[in-house]
Amino acid sequence: MPDVRDSFSRVAANYSKSTFHTSSVRLQEVLDLARPKRGDLALDVATGTGNTAFALAPYVRRVIGLDVTREMLDEARRVAAERDVVNTDWVIGDASHLPFQDDTFDLYVVRAAPHHFPDIDRFLAEAYRVLKPDRDAAFVDCAPPLPARDVLHEVEMRRDPSHVLSLTVDEWVARLEAAGFEVEMAEVRELDWNYEEWMNNMAVAAELAAELAQVIDASSGEARTQLHPEWREGKLWHAYWHALIRARKPGG
Ligand SMILES: C[S@@+](CC[C@H](N)C(=O)[O-])C[C@H]1O[C@@H](n2cnc3c(N)ncnc32)[C@H](O)[C@@H]1O
Repeated sequence: MPDVRDSFSRVAANYSKSTFHTSSVRLQEVLDLARPKRGDLALDVATGTGNTAFALAPYVRRVIGLDVTREMLDEARRVAAERDVVNTDWVIGDASHLPFQDDTFDLYVVRAAPHHFPDIDRFLAEAYRVLKPDRDAAFVDCAPPLPARDVLHEVEMRRDPSHVLSLTVDEWVARLEAAGFEVEMAEVRELDWNYEEWMNNMAVAAELAAELAQVIDASSGEARTQLHPEWREGKLWHAYWHALIRARKPGG
């Protein structure tokens, strides 16, 4: 299986600049979902360059950003120093083997990463384990509806071999409930997606990017209706979806 660190170690700087990952509208969306509180100890799993952790930081006591790729955390540390953010810690680790004791965190957040995790049930079991009872978790990840997922799956796998699978929102709810969470809110929202920037974030070679654009543009039937690809001034735009989920670990 491809190592996710091979994908992200070479593009760390792109993720502290990416329009999607740094957008204040998108970060506010996570805050609205996670509802951080002043005294919270928060965990941001697969923090990357820390965009979500930095959004949480002003509203909580402390945020730990965890990621498996050292170069992404180096970039997060650089940004923290540049912005003088003092209530963040950066920890190397795997979402499926968290280096924390049971019932440690008041808030668990993960954004734009579970589609890389090889074992969703194991990652959710870890999320559940480290969260305190009666506390909340926010999950944000790509979640295209079927059949558009089948088209995007091919594109995602070739864009970044560390992609595993994007769950639909119904699949998310089933897995979260099986892990013991109570799902308080689960919805999908669609974005107008800048294909070129998406490819550039992962430094995809121009030839492959052009080939993958054709995969989206050649979609047909219901998938095409869902993706509604459009060329604007020679650049491809299409629909892209994320699941926004708030879930609670029931009280002890
Ligand atoms: C798109 S970036 C994360 C974006 C970030 N959460 C944000 O909101 O801006 C995906 C990150 O997931 C991390 N990652 C992938 N698999 C992981 C795992 N099993 N455990 C921890 N981090 C992982 C990668 O190293 C990468 O930094």
